[in-house]
Amino acid sequence: MTKILLTGGAGYIGSHTYLALIQSGFEVVILDNFSNSKSDVPRRLQDISGKMVYCFNGDVLDRTDLDNVFAAHKIDGVVHFAAKKAVSESVVKPLDYMHNNIGGLLNLLAAMDAADVRNIVFSSSATVYGDTDVQPIPEDHPRTYTSPYAFTKIAGEQILEQLPNTWVVGILRYFNPAGAHKSAMIGEDSEDIPNNLLPYIAKVAVGELAELVVFGDDYDTPDGTGVRDYIHVEDLADGHVLSLKSLLETGESHTVNLGTGEGSSVLDVVAAYSEACGKDLAHTIAPRRDGDVAVLTGLPEQAKARLGFEAKRSLGDMCKSSWAWVSGQRRNKR
Ligand code: WQD
Repeated sequence: MTKILLTGGAGYIGSHTYLALIQSGFEVVILDNFSNSKSDVPRRLQDISGKMVYCFNGDVLDRTDLDNVFAAHKIDGVVHFAAKKAVSESVVKPLDYMHNNIGGLLNLLAAMDAADVRNIVFSSSATVYGDTDVQPIPEDHPRTYTSPYAFTKIAGEQILEQLPNTWVVGILRYFNPAGAHKSAMIGEDSEDIPNNLLPYIAKVAVGELAELVVFGDDYDTPDGTGVRDYIHVEDLADGHVLSLKSLLETGESHTVNLGTGEGSSVLDVVAAYSEACGKDLAHTIAPRRDGDVAVLTGLPEQAKARLGFEAKRSLGDMCKSSWAWVSGQRRNKR
């Protein structure tokens, strides 16, 4: 059986990708330092999948941790999720982001090379496109960074582009991941006050936060609020499975957007979440957030052409699955 290492596999997208890979017949090993994921995620993955979960508590910055994984398992490919991903935090801690995201990638690539493993899927981001009027954005759009986080993603992509053709690389540029697993046993799980829209609205819906602050209603968009390309995290996970299969079967590298090509405004999301949870959600309009752009949507054609990937789930599905996850969590906390 083909065995895949997921660095950061206990995180939000990693844990959903774990389940999609198991479902597709892969064997999977997780390496996670649990800096941004809960320690009981592996047990929940075991409960959902009914299979033993192989998880190393370790760090991609620690070469010994990596060598131990490759010594213990014959790995056929790697999906590299382990990185810091908060844009605002990266502005405050640029060195931390470069050390973790670029240093971690370089350490992983060295360990992979030493273990003769040269298939890698890299978790990238639409943020590499910067602020552009070209919408939806094609993959050949120039890259420009607007934050240290975006810089580390562009640097990661460029490092992978320098590798010899003995390496086979899948670069996946996520737009706005949202939603939770259909089991409602895993989902986005941030302790602190979320930066992102969906987890913030989820906390308003369960009563942990009082109201949503809408950052600007004076953008050049249909209702004046920011428009984004939200993609269900389970669709995103399916995209990773197709990316890995393509690398392993064709030996050809690819760089694709993982998005729907459709845009939803902040107020569209508020209305969809309100429908999903059956409540009105308190929200107020405030000035724009620094660094935000009006519209960010991704052209999905390449992912379809190269991987046969198409997002299937709707914004309503994202909100319903998110609500089932957070309201279930709420129940469990009592
Ligand atoms: C979405 C929309 C906000 C919060 C970020 C990163 C990106 C990627 C995904 C890592 C915008 C509005 C938000 C709130 C609001 N992460 N909003 N009130 O900024 O598109 O993308 O997360 O790869 O790199 O930049 O996502 O969810 O923060 O914002 O009005 O409390 O919701 O203005 O229009 P964003 P987001």
